Amino acid sequence: MDIGIPKEVKVQEHRVACTPAGVQYLSDAGHRVFIQSGAGDGSGFNDRAYEAAGAQILPNPSEVWSVDMVVKVKEPVEAEYDYLRPGQVLFTFLHLAADPVLANHLVEKGVSAIAYETVSENGRLPLLAPMSEIAGKMSLMAGGFYLANHSGGNGTLLGGVPGVMPGKVTILGGGTAGMNAAIVAKGIGTRVTILELDQERMRYLSTVLGAQVQTLFSTRQHIAEELEDTDLLVGAVLVTGSTAPKLLNRTMLRSMKRGAVFVDISIDQGGCSETSRPTSHEHPIYREEGVLHYCVTNMPGAYARTSTEALTGNTLPYVRAIADMGIDRAVKVMPGLLGGLNTHEGAVTHEAVAASLGMEYDSRYQGNDR
Ligand SMILES: NC(=O)c1ccc[n+]([C@@H]2O[C@H](COP(=O)([O-])OP(=O)(O)OC[C@H]3O[C@@H](n4cnc5c(N)ncnc54)[C@H](O)[C@@H]3O)[C@@H](O)[C@H]2O)c1
Repeated sequence: MDIGIPKEVKVQEHRVACTPAGVQYLSDAGHRVFIQSGAGDGSGFNDRAYEAAGAQILPNPSEVWSVDMVVKVKEPVEAEYDYLRPGQVLFTFLHLAADPVLANHLVEKGVSAIAYETVSENGRLPLLAPMSEIAGKMSLMAGGFYLANHSGGNGTLLGGVPGVMPGKVTILGGGTAGMNAAIVAKGIGTRVTILELDQERMRYLSTVLGAQVQTLFSTRQHIAEELEDTDLLVGAVLVTGSTAPKLLNRTMLRSMKRGAVFVDISIDQGGCSETSRPTSHEHPIYREEGVLHYCVTNMPGAYARTSTEALTGNTLPYVRAIADMGIDRAVKVMPGLLGGLNTHEGAVTHEAVAASLGMEYDSRYQGNDR
């Protein structure tokens, strides 16, 4: 199969969908890889490295997008919509629940779109997880930075010093991103509370993170109580495929300290507060109800070397399976990929995505009757 890897065009997105080692692996398997010139620069991989691995370098995105399967990192942005066409296989992050315009384009153009974030194996999200690990860790770095007075924060050093209470971090959702935020928070010595719904997950978090990290059932009352003395709030909830549950409203935020920081990692699924709206690495923050909001939708794009290696190490087996077998057979052989199929042949094929978008769900691709 011919595989195209365009240069990412989202603001300050430096990741690329395949490393030279990945290109070599796909080329050795008999596939042709076409990569846009400069696509790997932000991740530290130049055109020569890709050429040496067997890729053909193309100057124009339109040529790269014209092949059988396009593998990307972030969802197509408006400037890329014209490249979408019937029968094309698109493998990338999509977050369609928060992007009805893109969802409509993919359906109308008949694209077979597989979303990294809904590929699932035994209840895990193997392609989302590496990026959530990075975003979770980053949330403490970004949050700590914006708590500084000169950044507009309340001047609390999260880890504190002997004789002074450390700052307090409250994390909504103790999945991959939430746990990684907690690991860093614990490491620098903050007080940490994670609010979760899943009892088994809270048991696990307590076991691995120890007594410094408090877990608490996620109820509106518990969240409201925790917010009052929180310095850094991290939003890391997810219901796979759906828009993020709205756990916070204006009144609740108003109860927080002035100059507290809210990093809403779940903004890519619409965000978990009624005050959340997407921002970019160029303009990452805004203030609502006295609280600094950091709502960057592509956080890992800032640490592209690490993120590209973490992402592509996980996506490559799926890329290879689709290239070897074609999409129809690949989703049968690798059931995780079927969970990733969001649109196919003009229909929305993921139930939670369809429900969030208020679009019709086409279940005919589930099961073995294809
Ligand atoms: N902004 C970015 O750049 C970026 C990068 C990576 C991931 N993300 C996003 O971060 C979010 C979290 O991803 P993840 O991989 O950690 O997901 P995950 O599935 O591992 O964890 C989500 C957790 O949220 C919990 N949860 C669901 N509803 C809840 C509620 N009402 N209260 C408390 N907890 C609740 C679930 O039980 C689960 O443990 C996703 O939206 C993901 O897309 C964003």
